[in-house]
Amino acid sequence: MREATAKWAKRLDLKPLLDHTPQGISGGQKQRVAMAGVLIDESNILLFDEPLASLDPASGKASIELIDHLSRQQGLTVIIIEHRLEDVLQRPIDRLVVLQNGEIVGNDKPAAILRDSLMQQLGLREPLYLTAIQLAGIQLADCKAIDSVSTVTGENIEPALKKWTAGVTLQQSPLPTEPLVEIKDVSFGYHPDHPVIDHLNLTIHRGDMLSLVGRNGTGKSTLSNLITGFLTPDAGTMTLNGTDLAGLSVKERADHIGYILQDPNQMISKAMIYDEVASGLRLRDLSDDEVTKRLDATLKVCGLYEFRHWPISALSFGQKKRVTIASILVLNPEMIILDEPTAGQDLRHYTEMMNFLEQVNHEQHVTIMLITHDMHLMLEYTQRAIVLDHGGVLMDARPEDVLTNEGVIDKASLAKTSLFTLAERYHLPSALDFVAKFVQTEREERAHE
Ligand SMILES: Nc1ncnc2c1ncn2[C@@H]1O[C@H](COP(=O)(O)OP(=O)(O)OP(=O)(O)O)[C@@H](O)[C@H]1O
Ligand SMILES: [Mg+2]
Repeated sequence: MREATAKWAKRLDLKPLLDHTPQGISGGQKQRVAMAGVLIDESNILLFDEPLASLDPASGKASIELIDHLSRQQGLTVIIIEHRLEDVLQRPIDRLVVLQNGEIVGNDKPAAILRDSLMQQLGLREPLYLTAIQLAGIQLADCKAIDSVSTVTGENIEPALKKWTAGVTLQQSPLPTEPLVEIKDVSFGYHPDHPVIDHLNLTIHRGDMLSLVGRNGTGKSTLSNLITGFLTPDAGTMTLNGTDLAGLSVKERADHIGYILQDPNQMISKAMIYDEVASGLRLRDLSDDEVTKRLDATLKVCGLYEFRHWPISALSFGQKKRVTIASILVLNPEMIILDEPTAGQDLRHYTEMMNFLEQVNHEQHVTIMLITHDMHLMLEYTQRAIVLDHGGVLMDARPEDVLTNEGVIDKASLAKTSLFTLAERYHLPSALDFVAKFVQTEREERAHE
């Protein structure tokens, strides 16, 4: 058994973690441990239910490569259930099966399914480079080898992409500048000699909609726990509107900064929606009238008003997530931190949730920080990306700048967007310009929906 454990720990790069407790590792590290626990049985059929959900893009790619390698080398049958199709398609997949309401509505080679735009029709996410090709006016039916950005070809793709890019004018709006949270020279380690956060400096502005990204185990959740007060820095200062956070308790900070965990089930403690959303308010000395007024307003904003007397058990994962957001929003926070808000959600729920957060950011000027491994999410919905690496900020820029910077992508285990590869393959003058214009166009379309 020790031999098998050592072998799989080595293959999945888990050796340094073997003597950690399950609570003492990051979200993505847990995912890799779970995978090793399955692989060790050496079964003939492997079924993975969203293996990529909390993995950073580089680990996700490595996992897909490992699964592919194992299936070839040992003749295994592999079934992967995933929303992140583009990441899975990094390796050849024999068959793509699409389910809707319990029925199989598509079962073919990936290229055939993608060509028919079946994914789009069903509200599923198609790979970004295919959206871009269609935006430039090219029909997928006229293209070949469309299941990978590195093989897709078509007669007029190059001129069409060039023409499309030339026809869009970039209008970048200025980013917020008023400081809300200022983190100065903060350090923290679970063990004194291993700092996880190391002399970190970061200013978050009022009204920012930003993403916090970086490899598994780099300290994203740790940083959020420091901001919200669940952990205390070893050194450095953090202020909120100029007030030292060290003087505020977890509960006092929660009046200003809400933290939404990845799994809504970990946050929900009441049986009924109304009671759950009310629970934070009831802990604070407010009159019954004030509680009712704030609750009703928040439930309406969150689209939960009609459901307010429902039991939480009747809700889907996405709706529960919305309940957890409502119970934070009702406290009128200035900032919300969300750990992987969209992991494991299909495009409809994902879009619903993100549009909702965008609205809260625009209309109520709530600062939103998303911790995510989803590069599409970062690109399409946030205006600022903070890349965390080795305890500090490696890059702080617009998402399209980050995702077209190969040095940073490699260092922080992020993934190049397929739009970048498409731009390079078709010799567009500037990949960054193309990606920025694509993102702008998608945002405009969303705003008109
Ligand atoms: N309670 C703990 N005790 C000891 N070490 C911990 C504890 N929690 C996390 N760590 C370690 O601290 C480092 C940072 O973990 P953290 O959870 O902040 O990473 P993360 O960036 O959120 O990763 P992920 O993307 O996988 O969620 C990791 O190396 C992890 O193993
Ligand atoms: Mg984490």
